[in-house]
Amino acid sequence: MASFNLLLLPGDGIGPEVAAEVEKLVKWFDRQGLARFEVEHDLVGGAAYDAHGAAISDAAMARAEAADAVLFGAVGGPKWDGVPYAHRPEAGLLRLRKDLGLFANLRPAICYPALADASSLKREHVEGLDIVIVRELTGGVYFGEPKEIVTLENGEKRAVDTQLYTTHEIERIARVAFELAARRRNHVASAEKRNVMRTGVLWNEVVTRVHKDEYPGARLEHVLADNCAMQLVRNPKQYDVVVTDNLFGDILSDVAAMLTGSLGMLPSASLGAEDPATGKRKALYEPVHGSAPDIAGQGLANPIAMLGSFGMALRYSFGLVEAADRLEAAIASVLAAGLRTRDIAAPGANAVSTGEMGDAVVAALAKAA
Ligand code: NAD
Ligand code: IPM
Ligand code: MN
Repeated sequence: MASFNLLLLPGDGIGPEVAAEVEKLVKWFDRQGLARFEVEHDLVGGAAYDAHGAAISDAAMARAEAADAVLFGAVGGPKWDGVPYAHRPEAGLLRLRKDLGLFANLRPAICYPALADASSLKREHVEGLDIVIVRELTGGVYFGEPKEIVTLENGEKRAVDTQLYTTHEIERIARVAFELAARRRNHVASAEKRNVMRTGVLWNEVVTRVHKDEYPGARLEHVLADNCAMQLVRNPKQYDVVVTDNLFGDILSDVAAMLTGSLGMLPSASLGAEDPATGKRKALYEPVHGSAPDIAGQGLANPIAMLGSFGMALRYSFGLVEAADRLEAAIASVLAAGLRTRDIAAPGANAVSTGEMGDAVVAALAKAA
């Protein structure tokens, strides 16, 4: 039987709460004998800073390098507002992405039929929605140098972040988008701001060339990123795959989250390049949401984004496509049966806790088995 080494990094706030639910799932799949999962745990974010003085330790990085996949909860919170910038909880996540070379972040936004009324948009705009935002994850303004705040001679301060992209970085994320689209509706929308940014000009040029030379059968459209944000709330179903840079992808995916009913619904996969020798790729699976300090510790968090992230691990890292389909069907059936955490419940309606939602998904899996 295939055996996989999984590193679980729960993090801060609601991270440990949703991570506890994913552990129930991992154990269930393990018991079913579909695969053997060796689960290790480590600290990341504020929890790691408190323990080691860094948002991720070198030992945890080494474990992440060695793991078949990393499952990440969430990091951050007001407790760490005052810590030096380089040690902020978010720095742990950024280091994981950069050092593991996880340049491709897939953020699918699917509106489950039962949740068509949970979105802040009208039902007709979101019913049947199935789009994926492909976010470049290791370049752009997140990592470009210089990145600093300097004090000028007149005492004023000047802050600078640098948006930077190379041909290679754009080519490889464009290929991920076209490959993914080929298995879907073969439509790619590329979002940038070529009207004001040089990186936008290069992005547009490179995506156009990759399309023409390598994927001429796909439909490609270019859209300015601000217009794309508007189109996502005007008529999101016009899209299939949206490929964009690191910062625009961060913002557009939070917009897309609300189309599905809640930020607590959006899973993601952060993938590295395929190793030509082994065919394997480094991968980290992370919900799109953060540590949600406003609801942390109260059992209110929706674990579906985290459970769905494990589903993406089953699909992309472990090749267990059938198991991934079964998990998605179990989530859909629990929602169809009317179970709701507070974020997706109608105002005033009964809501279940994080743990009850996790238990219900495991029970639905067991019933279908
Ligand atoms: P957030 O995503 O934590 O929360 C935004 C809103 O969505 C909150 O009202 C929260 O209660 C709600 N929400 C988020 N996830 C939910 C879930 N699973 N179930 C129910 N409701 C949910 O964003 P924020 O408040 O802007 O950021 C809080 C902290 O999280 C910051 O420190 C930020 O840097 C960090 N953050 C971390 C990640 C990550 O670890 N991947 C992602 C985003 C933000
Ligand atoms: C996300 C988060 C992260 C990002 C933060 C926590 C570094 O917002 O994954 O969407 O900006 O990429
Ligand atoms: Mn974000």
